[in-house]
Amino acid sequence: MKTPTKIWICMGSSCYARGNAQNAEIVQRWLAAKGIVSEVDFAGTLCEGRCKEGPILKIGDRIFSGVTPATVEDILEHLFAGK
Ligand code: FES
Repeated sequence: MKTPTKIWICMGSSCYARGNAQNAEIVQRWLAAKGIVSEVDFAGTLCEGRCKEGPILKIGDRIFSGVTPATVEDILEHLFAGK
């Protein structure tokens, strides 16, 4: 699989309140720790219309639902393995 270069995090009010505020900080710290901030386009989005499944994180062409601060690093490690 091609290494994803885009990460979108839903910053709509539901996702934000349910974990994405913290998840966004974790993603930023993780990218910095890996030294790949400049290689990845990390952006926030408005509500994705999937609030019930949230918090939502999109990486490349994959959508992750129910992302928590406990699982977000595992998702990143898995998708960016080898970086
Ligand atoms: S707030 Fe994230 S899907 Fe609605």
